Amino acid sequence: MSKTYYIETFGCQMNEYDSEKICGLLNTEGYVEISQRDQADLIIFNTCLIRENAENKLYGKLGEVKKVKRLNPNTIIAVCGCIPQNQEIREKILTKYPFIDLVFGTNTYDQLPELLYDITQSQKKIIAIEENSDDLIEAIPKVRKFHHKGFVNIMYGCNNFCAYCVVPYTRGRERSRNRQDIIDEVTELANSGYKEITLLGQNVNSYGNDLQGSYFFPDLLRELNEISGLERIRYMTSHPKDVNDDFIAAIKDCNKVCNHIHLPVQSGSSKVLKEMNRKYTKEDYLAFVEKAKREIPNLSFSTDFIVGFPGETEEDFEETLALVRQVRFDAAFTFIYSVRPGTSAGKREDQIPDTIKHERFDRLLKTLYPIFESNNKACIGHDYTVLVDDVSKNKPDYLTGRTECHRLVHFKGDASLIGQVVKVHITKARTWYMEGNLI
Ligand code: 5AD
Ligand code: SF4
Repeated sequence: MSKTYYIETFGCQMNEYDSEKICGLLNTEGYVEISQRDQADLIIFNTCLIRENAENKLYGKLGEVKKVKRLNPNTIIAVCGCIPQNQEIREKILTKYPFIDLVFGTNTYDQLPELLYDITQSQKKIIAIEENSDDLIEAIPKVRKFHHKGFVNIMYGCNNFCAYCVVPYTRGRERSRNRQDIIDEVTELANSGYKEITLLGQNVNSYGNDLQGSYFFPDLLRELNEISGLERIRYMTSHPKDVNDDFIAAIKDCNKVCNHIHLPVQSGSSKVLKEMNRKYTKEDYLAFVEKAKREIPNLSFSTDFIVGFPGETEEDFEETLALVRQVRFDAAFTFIYSVRPGTSAGKREDQIPDTIKHERFDRLLKTLYPIFESNNKACIGHDYTVLVDDVSKNKPDYLTGRTECHRLVHFKGDASLIGQVVKVHITKARTWYMEGNLI
């Protein structure tokens, strides 16, 4: 009988994509994925360290599986991803949850088949972590979640050391993938019917900076745009310090590159941005947004905010609200600042009290939501091409998909349309989605 596994993924798209590769490796080894966690022979938690609540989620799950391990000591419990990359936290969890059998990191998941073999042979706990790797993990089979859209890594790691962020410590330095490997992977996806790809990297606009030569992110967009069969190219995440005119020109010239930029601003105060080590000012950000909107028709912008960064004053926060009103973002991820191990901001003594952080967070949402809704309302009466992703979770006769500008659309339709690009006439709009009729 085949061995079974259960995998649960926390955090960003990078982790989701790593999980697709982990599943690919396990399937080649003859493992079968199941959704009943407690019956699996192997339970894997692919973890995230970006904020404290992501870390706490893992502890909750480990508390739950303790009983599973007691009832069935042969179950292998594995923890991988970003959390074990931090030595202190890794040691803490190994002491607190001694039943964990296997720990591997963001640079070692390709060794999983051998690690599992070693565990079954030796019956001993195995810890496989490489703190900082120069290697690129290539040619890993993937179990892709969708058959019409998929992720493609273009680079790994981050060099930016934003003062609040743990990623440079968990994912190491920037390493760009070889251009031809990316082109080949996207061509293969397009040939097997994929319509949309999302290029992944912590900072996609610095693609190529570490390679010999003068081939950069806009060049990659232009080359991928030529791949036949492919209809949409997305990418994330862009860093405001690395966006430029070439990038705007590439989006404008390439019909497959979507008219949506996710450009995390974090704060609207140049003082806070400097302390965050973001390397751009509020004015730089606004100038780019204005230029891009002028050049690219119907461009939508989404962003990330952190409220309550150490030392953030009421005036700094009001500058964030003013920036929100000026840019009129189409969507945003909003976060309350969370102290992270090893980061410079975590050591600051001028941390903002929780009550103030929450109060600012609420005010930020109150400012953002009416803008999202009003931007969506402006789409009413217009027709949009929508790539159909799935059946709607709440209404089974409804489908859900996204416009090119990344707006979520719900509409009545048959499940046979999943994976197709259709036209929808928008009739209703809310804060986070729109509704319409298939035309
Ligand atoms: N606290 C809160 N939010 C954070 N982010 C990164 N680190 C932290 C932190 N310590 C947010 C940033 C980033 C997004 C992926 O997560 O907004 O853009
Ligand atoms: Fe973290 Fe900054 Fe790198 Fe993004 S650019 S991963 S926020 S250090």
